[in-house]
Amino acid sequence: MSEQVIINATDVNKTFQVKAGEVNAINSVSFTANRGEVTTIVGPSGSGKTTLLYVVGSLEKPESGSIEVAGRDILDSGTNLVRYRRENIGFVFQFFNLVPTLTALENVMLPMDLAGIRPDEQRRRATELLDRMGVKDRLLKAKPTKMSGGENQRVAIARALANDPDIILADEPTGNLDTATGSTVIDILSSLARENDKCVLMVTHDESILAVSDRAFHMVDGQLSEIIL
Ligand SMILES: Nc1ncnc2c1ncn2[C@@H]1O[C@H](COP(=O)(O)OP(=O)(O)OP(=O)(O)O)[C@@H](O)[C@H]1O
Ligand SMILES: [Mg+2]
Repeated sequence: MSEQVIINATDVNKTFQVKAGEVNAINSVSFTANRGEVTTIVGPSGSGKTTLLYVVGSLEKPESGSIEVAGRDILDSGTNLVRYRRENIGFVFQFFNLVPTLTALENVMLPMDLAGIRPDEQRRRATELLDRMGVKDRLLKAKPTKMSGGENQRVAIARALANDPDIILADEPTGNLDTATGSTVIDILSSLARENDKCVLMVTHDESILAVSDRAFHMVDGQLSEIIL
């Protein structure tokens, strides 16, 4: 299993302007994350965890610092961020964020559609991914409201994998699941790292996830410190 650095963030700062002044959501953060590993960030509410994932996923732009992904700085003005996200990043969220009007299958096909993949290939690959995530065949045509939380999250992970990204960014992926379902989701994410060589970068309140992590950081007031596992 390779232990190659794929994310290399250096001295990243992100400030939000709010009525009361400024919030330093990310304060001089540097870290690396490897392919083939689960990297976990724990920390209290408001400490900057989601902001950090969004910055890595280019949904938020930091004021300063550098974020090299696979050797290229995504903060360089020449980077095509839509393409960067599509080719490199899969997002998994606490509330799943599936499109409610689309079926499970269509939700997984959607990112491939946006990437210009042929419909028959979209369907073939989406079916395969859902099967791999343990989503039952009878659910392929189900809409998100007709599925359980765990089923929604499996579909959401399949969607994150649609364009075969190297990096999965997961924000509280078990936050809305019972303990048993949550641990199945964590098993899926860690096997994506270990067996498929993905870089899984996960944010959580749940410190029990540290047990399945290769590396971990504690985030407090926008600052990261490594936890020795
Ligand atoms: N779009 C925004 N505008 C203004 N302030 C923001 C914005 N997004 C986040 N913040 C502030 O930045 C800080 C970090 O927020 P963030 O959402 O990253 O925390 P978090 O660690 O993910 O918290 P939680 O565990 O509750 O999800 C907080 O003080 C928050 O209020
Ligand atoms: Mg958050």
